[in-house]
Amino acid sequence: MSAKHPLKLLGDVASSDIPHSAFPIPHLVDTFGRVHNNLRISVTDRCNLRCTYCMPEDVVFRDRSELLTFEEMAHFVRVAAGLGVDKVRLTGGEPLVRKDLHKLVRMLVGIPGIKDIGLTTNGVLLADQAGDLFAAGLRRLNVSLDTLDPGRFRELTRRDGLDRVLDGLAAVKRAGFDRVKVNAVAIRGVNDQDAAPLARYCRDHGFELRFIEYMPIGADAWEREKVFFAHEILELLGREVAPLAPAPDNDPRAPATDFLYADGGGRVGIIASVSRPFCRSCNRLRLTAEGKVRNCLFALDETDVKDFLRRPTPDDAAIADALRRSVWAKWEGHEINSARFVKPDRTMHAIGG
Ligand code: GTP
Ligand code: 5AD
Ligand code: SF4
Repeated sequence: MSAKHPLKLLGDVASSDIPHSAFPIPHLVDTFGRVHNNLRISVTDRCNLRCTYCMPEDVVFRDRSELLTFEEMAHFVRVAAGLGVDKVRLTGGEPLVRKDLHKLVRMLVGIPGIKDIGLTTNGVLLADQAGDLFAAGLRRLNVSLDTLDPGRFRELTRRDGLDRVLDGLAAVKRAGFDRVKVNAVAIRGVNDQDAAPLARYCRDHGFELRFIEYMPIGADAWEREKVFFAHEILELLGREVAPLAPAPDNDPRAPATDFLYADGGGRVGIIASVSRPFCRSCNRLRLTAEGKVRNCLFALDETDVKDFLRRPTPDDAAIADALRRSVWAKWEGHEINSARFVKPDRTMHAIGG
């Protein structure tokens, strides 16, 4: 365990301190009592965009041979499901650049205990794949889109592709997905002028727009001044789009705080990771594309499970043990707002959004 971070509250955890050794418990629980049921799997670190807030222009991706196979991911999920994981979200890089992703979805749908499977995509390849993903059993889809302006899309992503994302969103509706969420990272001075047009577009098309406060997890130098804060976004939407009121059915464990347009125009969410961190109710853990378990988006340590998965007979007990230990060692929160914050070495694309 690294001594790099002053908030490593547990220091070195002796195996005898971990409850499962003495009292086998079925759940992934940490020392703050948080039960972890929500697994985010990064299926690849590759991406067909190069968003400035996420990765460097000259990013080097892992060799494909390093990535877990779909069978290995499904095996891991089977073990995790036995420990109480019931929600899985596939992320990247860009998950749809992984060939035949719908086959993984179909494998996960069949795993006992898994109740909810989601996908977070940049949408560029969605038009081609939406039908196959729906047929495989996927029902929850989040699409990242930060602007409706082609020039700013190119500036932010260092690529063209806005039309393809919009085609992808249209295809998603045709395929039958409902409650599609659109995620927009809001950065002051970069795309703050896009907030209202995005909100109008989502209202018109029945998508649930969520603004995400810009976090220090990309390759570029993060400045607090660039965070377009939740309260500012809400104020702007209320003024320029339509009045908003807090949604009565907010899920306290979800990262987004939701609002409803008073005129019935739909739902908007704000993920205020910086101004209102949701760490206290965090239920998330992550598997990276090359088989490392991470207990926080901002974790500085990770635990390898690829080795256990690649044994002639996968070592399920070792995988379960690695999961329990990782969750047990989870810190209280990310500390973005404190001088103690330490940015992880991996940028977002290599962790999974
Ligand atoms: P559902 O609740 O299942 O719809 O998923 P979600 O909102 O967790 O999924 P999504 O992938 O759309 O996440 C939205 C954004 O929240 C991500 O793009 C990140 O910017 C942010 N986010 C996701 N996970 C974490 C996390 O563990 N910590 C923090 N601080 N932010 C996160
Ligand atoms: N801050 C907030 N969200 C980010 N994402 C990537 N980098 C950042 C950042 N620095 C989000 C994207 C997308 C997902 C892949 O991660 O918006 O929704
Ligand atoms: Fe790719 Fe998503 Fe990162 Fe953008 S934010 S570079 S779309 S992984």
